[in-house]
Amino acid sequence: MSDTSRLIDEVTGHRRMRRNRRADWTRRLVRENALTVDDLIWPLFLVPGTGIVDPIDAMPGVFRLSVDKAVEAAREAADLGIPALATFPNIDMSLRDETGSHALDANNLINAATRAIKKAVPEIGMITDVALDPFTSHGHDGILRDGIIVNDETVEAITRAAVLQADAGADIIAPSDMMDGRIGVIRRALDANGHQDVGLMSYATKFASAFYGPYREAIGTGGLLKGDKKAYYIDPANGTEALRDAALDVEEGADMLMVKPGLPYLDICWRMKEAFGLPVFAYQVSGEYTMIKAAGAKGWIDEERVALETLLAFKRAGCDGIMTYFALDVAKALARAS
Ligand code: PBG
Repeated sequence: MSDTSRLIDEVTGHRRMRRNRRADWTRRLVRENALTVDDLIWPLFLVPGTGIVDPIDAMPGVFRLSVDKAVEAAREAADLGIPALATFPNIDMSLRDETGSHALDANNLINAATRAIKKAVPEIGMITDVALDPFTSHGHDGILRDGIIVNDETVEAITRAAVLQADAGADIIAPSDMMDGRIGVIRRALDANGHQDVGLMSYATKFASAFYGPYREAIGTGGLLKGDKKAYYIDPANGTEALRDAALDVEEGADMLMVKPGLPYLDICWRMKEAFGLPVFAYQVSGEYTMIKAAGAKGWIDEERVALETLLAFKRAGCDGIMTYFALDVAKALARAS
């Protein structure tokens, strides 16, 4: 035994962390977390028309789909075992107005897609985002009056929109607008309209983030948005405030909690899981996806391995699942590996 070995045994007290890492079988045996297809929620972008598969510049590999194509995508996702989809509409500019009134059309794009997907692929969970930003001419999540996003009037509108989404067959409503009081008000409205079984996934902690850029191109709000969303989304500097906001949503009846964006906010995921014990999901948002794609396309990182590592990191941070644009590719990779 060399002097160094003797010295190492002395400083470590014969504890060698590498013993458990030495072979594939030991690594598998001691592995604490795993990513499976059951952890994935796949976001889909919708456009009007038929037969449309429209690429999004800033999100290579992601497409805006017409409803018929979204149904095909849903079939593929269900066959791979992906539990749920989340839909986001890019509606005609002519339908967008100051108050986002088209959100209250029972036959709008999001509701039409829910009906078509639920009919063709009933076994897949449908999570619908409720917020006014795809429907407003200014790209804000709420109603804009005299330069202010008015809270209570917005809650009234998104509550009606949520009931229409549930009528169309949504299984989980995901309010992503950050207005105060919306979880409790939507819960009551769903119950009053016979939708006791429809769940609420609250975007409880949604941060005023620069990572949403590519998404705004995808739903066509990028050029429209005036100002920023700092008056209603949470300051990225604030973790304790995020927990307080989530606590209110839990009290108001949220069934599940969402942290958004994901990777820069793993501390929030962990704190939420510890604090509430409710299912916690992370939304790996457009900018997170795009960074991995861009570096992968340059050959600077291994896209698939980096993507899988980020998703595993969410599991380690306590998340029950992840909403990710990688969902389909990852589901395929997991199926290949098994
Ligand atoms: C707004 C909304 C946003 C995203 C989904 N819904 C944020 C925004 O545009 O401000 C972002 C999702 C992503 O970046 O992938 N209700």
